Amino acid sequence: MSVQARDLAVEFAYRFGRAPTVSRAPGRVNLIGEHTDYNDGYVMPAALDFATLTAASQRPDRRLRVYSMIMDETREFDLDSPPAASSGDWSDYVIGVALMLETSGYTLSGADLIVWSDVPIGAGLSSSAALEVSVAHALLTQSDLPFDPVTIARICQRAENDFVGMRCGVMDQYIACCGAAGHALLIDCRSLASRHVAIAPNLRLLIANSGVRHQHAGGEYNLRREACEEGVRLLSRYFGSIRALRDVTPRQLEAKRRKLPDLIYRRCRHIVTENARVLEAARALEAGDFVACGRAMNASHVSMQKDFEITCPEVDMLAGLAQTVEGVYGSRMTGGGFGGCTVSLVEAFAVDKVSQILVDGYRIATGLDTDIFVCAPSDGAGLVLV
Ligand code: GLA
Repeated sequence: MSVQARDLAVEFAYRFGRAPTVSRAPGRVNLIGEHTDYNDGYVMPAALDFATLTAASQRPDRRLRVYSMIMDETREFDLDSPPAASSGDWSDYVIGVALMLETSGYTLSGADLIVWSDVPIGAGLSSSAALEVSVAHALLTQSDLPFDPVTIARICQRAENDFVGMRCGVMDQYIACCGAAGHALLIDCRSLASRHVAIAPNLRLLIANSGVRHQHAGGEYNLRREACEEGVRLLSRYFGSIRALRDVTPRQLEAKRRKLPDLIYRRCRHIVTENARVLEAARALEAGDFVACGRAMNASHVSMQKDFEITCPEVDMLAGLAQTVEGVYGSRMTGGGFGGCTVSLVEAFAVDKVSQILVDGYRIATGLDTDIFVCAPSDGAGLVLV
């Protein structure tokens, strides 16, 4: 990491003739709790050692000039006459964050920025939140303004909701801001309180990238969100005080099953049972009961496959293959869905074996290659010393 940050600082000095600060924000893998965040529920992600770095230095004016080393493109904005709407460009995440910081009361200085990332793009590992949070950290640093992790997570989520147009929850931005090395984070997405959950030293989080990203994933995501909102609307006829599916117990949902269209019922069932599974998985990890944690992860995959219908044959294949290997406690799709990655909770001794089985089995079944990453949970956003 420090070598990459140093390379970035050298590139910055070459392009802009000044020494920058370097801000870092990680991608994430979610152990369990999918689509529960926008239902005011629970999630348990960990920050990855893949991250986005933003090198920055202040300008005397109110302009932002940002160069992406990944895209090899530069964009410029004037904070005093910003674009009114997003344009579908990578820079939407940069200007969107700057605008939301400004509308939240942070008055920013202009800045020159270079962004670089090794978070795989489009793999469901939250490359966009890593970009948002690392840019937010860089802009605040250059403006001598404080970086309050939970506040900034909410502002970056708003950039994505209101500027980019993706109705995501807060999980990805939260873990990018607040992650802790060696730990997952149990987040209550209603109160925004969180608790560190240690990943025992004998365990590994093994990520397998299916390499597929199904079309319309963004549209399907928003449709799932609407189905949950419809569920709340229908259920509130019977349980007046509910504000979100977080407030509905599995027993209450079962009691009203016949009052709901089957599709809405199944969407709701995923959320209410997933919330219970997150709490069970956190309890089990803390108690050293890895078998129970893995059981919750496997059940989560089935629920995403059958009830929420956000998996696809490729990730079903990867999760199914991993679940059969000795030393694997559990395996499931991670992230928004319709492709992307699986995450498996694995004993360190089994990493090589499960990796080989996934690579060979996936190629035989689909003709595709899977990339495997063994992840060490890392810290959330911060400055990198160069
Ligand atoms: C995406 C969103 C998150 C969350 C997950 C699904 O990553 O950005 O807010 O909803 O999907 O759990």
